[in-house]
Amino acid sequence: MILVTGGAGFIGSNFVLDWLQGTGESVLNIDKLTYAGNLGTLEPLHGNVKHVFVRADICDRGAMDALLAEHKPRAILHFAAESHVDRSIHGPADFVQTNVVGTFTLLEAARAYWITLPAAQKAAFRFLHVSTDEVFGSLSEDDPPFSETTPYAPNSPYSATKAGSDHLVRAYHHTYGLPVLTTNCSNNYGPYQFPEKLIPLMIANALAGKPLPVYGDGNNVRDWLYVGDHCAAIRRVLADGKPGETYNIGGWNEKKNLDVVSTLCDLLDASRPKAEGSYREQITYVKDRPGHDRRYAIDARKLEREVGWKPAETFETGLAKTVRWYLDNREWVDEVASGEYQKWVEANYAERV
Ligand code: NAD
Ligand code: TYD
Repeated sequence: MILVTGGAGFIGSNFVLDWLQGTGESVLNIDKLTYAGNLGTLEPLHGNVKHVFVRADICDRGAMDALLAEHKPRAILHFAAESHVDRSIHGPADFVQTNVVGTFTLLEAARAYWITLPAAQKAAFRFLHVSTDEVFGSLSEDDPPFSETTPYAPNSPYSATKAGSDHLVRAYHHTYGLPVLTTNCSNNYGPYQFPEKLIPLMIANALAGKPLPVYGDGNNVRDWLYVGDHCAAIRRVLADGKPGETYNIGGWNEKKNLDVVSTLCDLLDASRPKAEGSYREQITYVKDRPGHDRRYAIDARKLEREVGWKPAETFETGLAKTVRWYLDNREWVDEVASGEYQKWVEANYAERV
């Protein structure tokens, strides 16, 4: 069995669904079910005995110890985190708690469990930590993309807490020998992403006839990675990654935000045309994010060289699939976009007018 944390969130749930479709190995899925966690996403696994879901907080050492002792996983895949930069600006405390204290607590529980394993299981055990390219800071237009040796320079409370967690993971390998793997990936997109992030937010607003709020001048650049490609990369790293190593995962898709939003509008114009005009007319420039990183780009050649992974989707194919999914799954969006989410939208966008 493998243990997944954060498996009710966007990437974790995609990973669990793909894993159970592709292998016969069971998953223990631990998630606190914050606003970002959604059991509805895991509905297709209802009745599947290979999926064990437990609502728990990774900061709860007693719960982590008990779950490890009971289920004896061969690997921990750590996705759970507070993950949204804008929320980290409004309220950084939860980010320090889950990303730093939570990762520390999980590492301590993993170490205590790992030390007791028989030699062969001990050698085969892996702690795979899922992190972000944002720990490397911001690039200017002409800088080479981030590599695994780029120095850390996080700029937001989110990226600073992810950087802190990466350092702890590294230290547990160097100090205690825990067999860890760290992946730093770029911006994911695809099915089941919470509509506070750029792509699902723009699709939802476009369809609702609302403004499409582009921060600043819209020329910030992100590298976009289709979530299915990311999950495949993680499976490859888990199987063949070398303990103690870090791997950058990227989609080779650097895009300006304005270009992403314009392409989304074109896809929606083609598949769900408005009675009159284009969705592009809804694009609105709003006040920039404080400390907004200008550019992220990933050099993912190490992963291709050492574990034989490269993305299967281009931005065009991945985005077309994503738009199709959101058009076909309006109920999923409507369900997650109620209640607490509405309060967030008011808090984040009211001050940007
Ligand atoms: P998400 O916010 O959609 O999901 C996070 C999940 O973790 C949620 O289900 C939430 O309930 C759970 N969680 C939060 N705090 C918890 C706690 N204390 N205990 C247990 N569960 C808790 O995030 P995501 O987009 O799926 O990101 C997954 C991982 O990938 C994160 O570590 C994130 O930093 C990293 N990452 C994400 C992206 C991206 O574009 N989404 C890019 C790079 C890295
Ligand atoms: P986001 O999806 O929040 O991811 P991250 O900040 O981790 O890269 O944002 C992606 C980019 O889109 C980022 O440059 C901020 C920008 N953005 C907007 O222009 N408008 C929005 O409403 C949102 C949510 C993001």
